[in-house]
Amino acid sequence: MKSKILNIIRKKNKSSIVCLTAYSKNISKILDKYCDIVLVGDSLANVLYGMKNTHQITLDTMIKHSASVKLGIKKSLCVVDMPKNTYNNFKEAKKNAKKIIQKTKCDAVKIESNGKNYSIIKHLVKSKIAVMGHIGYTPQYKKRFKVEGFSKFNSNKLIKEAKKIEEAGAFSIILECISGKTSKKISQELKIPTIGIGSSAYCDGQILVTDDMLGLSGFYPKFVKKYANLNLIIEKSIQKYKKEVIKKKFPKSINSY
Ligand code: KIV
Repeated sequence: MKSKILNIIRKKNKSSIVCLTAYSKNISKILDKYCDIVLVGDSLANVLYGMKNTHQITLDTMIKHSASVKLGIKKSLCVVDMPKNTYNNFKEAKKNAKKIIQKTKCDAVKIESNGKNYSIIKHLVKSKIAVMGHIGYTPQYKKRFKVEGFSKFNSNKLIKEAKKIEEAGAFSIILECISGKTSKKISQELKIPTIGIGSSAYCDGQILVTDDMLGLSGFYPKFVKKYANLNLIIEKSIQKYKKEVIKKKFPKSINSY
């Protein structure tokens, strides 16, 4: 296992793992200074391309954005989401994961769990491809948003799923919108780190979609804390620019040749 991956695993029970998403170089360059993991999430389908879900985003689009993201990264671990229907069988999964890694130089891929695809993870890990798992609300497979893990039955199902992903060889696992009680149990029972999004402080690390936490996307469910209101900052800057252009206050001589 590569040392960058081992360093993430070693953080478990020592220090919380800091993760955010990026879709381009200008953002990843900033994230790289503060994050352990930068994820190129397929959430870019909704956030950047205005698609109604993540299902139609292509491998090539993920690769283009990931190559840009990687340009801004020097030290953090870069993980790329495998889009829906690119890992349905061993052959496709290996071919597409290798293509992502070769073209973007990322460190690992992420695969959403459908409760059955453990052998795909195992196959990729056997081929020396580092894999991050993803359970709970998995937008590639679940039709409606729902927080999971409240009932005993569902909680046990999620714990079993997480364990199977660990057994398959994943180096970490995203827990998306899972109750605090179940996230705590999963985090305690697994040796690999859990990274939560909407899944309480019991996880070994946290991730948010950067555009959400910066107030750019307009998507602010309960689990998103808005650390900035970039929409407002951008709007005010554009308004000022417009005013100055109309009043001939911009460009001044220092901006001219
Ligand atoms: O696509 C994405 O951004 C993700 C995160 C929400 C974990 O999978």
